[in-house]
Amino acid sequence: MTATQPEIPAFPVAATGCPMDPPPLLSELREERPVSRVALWDGSRPWLVTRHADVRSALRDPRLSSDVRRHGFPFLSAAQSEAIGEGLITFIRMDPPEHTRQRRMLTAEFMVKRMEAMRPEIDATVDALLDEMTGSGTSADLMEAFALPLPSLVICRMLGVPYEDHGYFQERSQLVQDTTASPEEVNTALGELAAYLDRLATEKAADPADDLISRLVAEQETPGHLSRLEVAGMALNLLIAGHETTANQIGLGILALRRQPDQWAKLVERPELVPAAVEELLRHQSIVPTGLQRVAREDLEIGGTPIKAGEGVLLQIGAANRDPRAFEEPDGLDIERNSRQHMAFGFGVHQCLGQPLARLELQCALAGIVRRLPGLRVTRFLEELDFRHGGNIYGLFTLPVEW
Ligand code: HEM
Repeated sequence: MTATQPEIPAFPVAATGCPMDPPPLLSELREERPVSRVALWDGSRPWLVTRHADVRSALRDPRLSSDVRRHGFPFLSAAQSEAIGEGLITFIRMDPPEHTRQRRMLTAEFMVKRMEAMRPEIDATVDALLDEMTGSGTSADLMEAFALPLPSLVICRMLGVPYEDHGYFQERSQLVQDTTASPEEVNTALGELAAYLDRLATEKAADPADDLISRLVAEQETPGHLSRLEVAGMALNLLIAGHETTANQIGLGILALRRQPDQWAKLVERPELVPAAVEELLRHQSIVPTGLQRVAREDLEIGGTPIKAGEGVLLQIGAANRDPRAFEEPDGLDIERNSRQHMAFGFGVHQCLGQPLARLELQCALAGIVRRLPGLRVTRFLEELDFRHGGNIYGLFTLPVEW
């Protein structure tokens, strides 16, 4: 008797079901086939891992590589596979020891203490944006008026990038994230962004300021620890990671809270719950829709399933964050629960370097909104909202609100 082979689903899986939840297929896989093959655009069949414990231990496993140059790395689109332009590969796509060497150059920049010192400035930026938004009427697109400019302003200031140029790099960085863009489009956008940052680094070399790019040039490029291309690549990575992620997390978070009037009311009444609410929103709303990409350097097992050297592995943190083995009633939003074990920022050596900054921005944003706009309402039904499907970052294009 031959057992019927389970069907291999196409990945990324189609967006079905409620847009505020991972597609139902991911939950089914987590319950029935927690380590299962999926089919990518190029016919390759990497493993998709969906349970919390398996994802967590895999993210800690040095036998799984993040190196895009390794054969078998699971690229999610043609554009992604061709857009790895030599020299622009940053440490997120590298393994130790080079990953460790480059990451260390930035750890001081993102230390919690340093971030906390930025809190008053971020609070003031939140207030200024809300002043501007509420000063021009009683309705707005929250993404355009608030969620996008906040992290964008902050990362520009940190890096020393003129905010006036944000339209230029926002357009291009959205293209870079878009898995439906052609390889040519992505490569052109990457080339332009790298050239822009290269020019900026030249200016900073001549006239240094108190910002991250000036420090990278002076402390890493000048003594020969990094090439100019590597400096541009690092800055590019931070610029992209620094605004698209947090902006969408803010938008999804506000929407999720507004859909749960009891949770919103609790937060308005008890703003001291903001830090816990941020963690719960990070757990509940994943902006990484695809999975963290790895390739096996040697044979190993994940959750009892043998994985061979050279096979791709996708670690689905969104499904893991809704695993009932890790969180009670995981599909419910409960801002008072302990969500600390979520993996929204990944885990292990590649765990998000910018998480202290992201946390701070999310806390300031949420605190500002519930304090200033306790009556905020989303003015569209869920099915009328424009969600960002098909990219590397999930979220909302627009979020129409009134107050
Ligand atoms: C809500 C906001 C954010 C989320 C959910 C998020 C999520 C993640 C995740 C899941 C990873 C792990 C990738 C992997 O293991 O392959 C990561 C890595 C990274 N993130 Fe974030 N991120 C956010 C904001 C930021 C910000 C604001 C910055 C910087 C300005 C940033 C910079 C980075 C960097 C540099 C890495 C690579 C770390 C490494 O490879 O060692 N992220 N992020």
